[in-house]
Amino acid sequence: MLSTRQRELVQATWKDVQPIQDAAAAIFYDKLFKLDPTLRQLFPEDLREQRRKLMQSLHFTVSGLDSPERLLPALQDLGRMHRRYGVRDEDFDTVGEALLWTLKQGLGTAFTPEVREAWAAAYALVSDVMRDALAQSIA
Ligand code: HEM
Repeated sequence: MLSTRQRELVQATWKDVQPIQDAAAAIFYDKLFKLDPTLRQLFPEDLREQRRKLMQSLHFTVSGLDSPERLLPALQDLGRMHRRYGVRDEDFDTVGEALLWTLKQGLGTAFTPEVREAWAAAYALVSDVMRDALAQSIA
């Protein structure tokens, strides 16, 4: 679970990423496909729509940290949807690594160890809920 301080850090640094969100989304997918080139085939050729969805879902999640009771069911639905996309459990680790790397590029020195820890905790929260729902969904 996230502490209040961690939630505040995630929300505050997310505000700083928003003005550069198009660049951040591009950096994220570049990094993701470098970490695991086999993931490229899961996504459509044109990633523009994906970049928008990624940023929207991050936005939704970061805002939702204040009201987990509304966030959790939405994340469970999202997790179940990922079965159709051919996503495997371990892919969540790769996505998490790409996300933290992207935040580091975007935030520079503001990406302190404490901020990194807060984002890692937020991603763990979100991905644990999605992974569980994905694992329990019917193939
Ligand atoms: C916290 C983790 C994640 C979040 C918040 C997230 C969010 C989303 C959202 C919002 C969509 C769009 C759904 C729609 O079309 O309405 C999506 C689609 C997709 N996601 Fe994720 N995702 C996560 C993890 C992953 C992982 C680990 C992978 C594996 C590489 C992945 C691969 C995909 C693919 C392949 C699509 C569909 C692409 C398409 O055909 O349009 N996602 N994701």
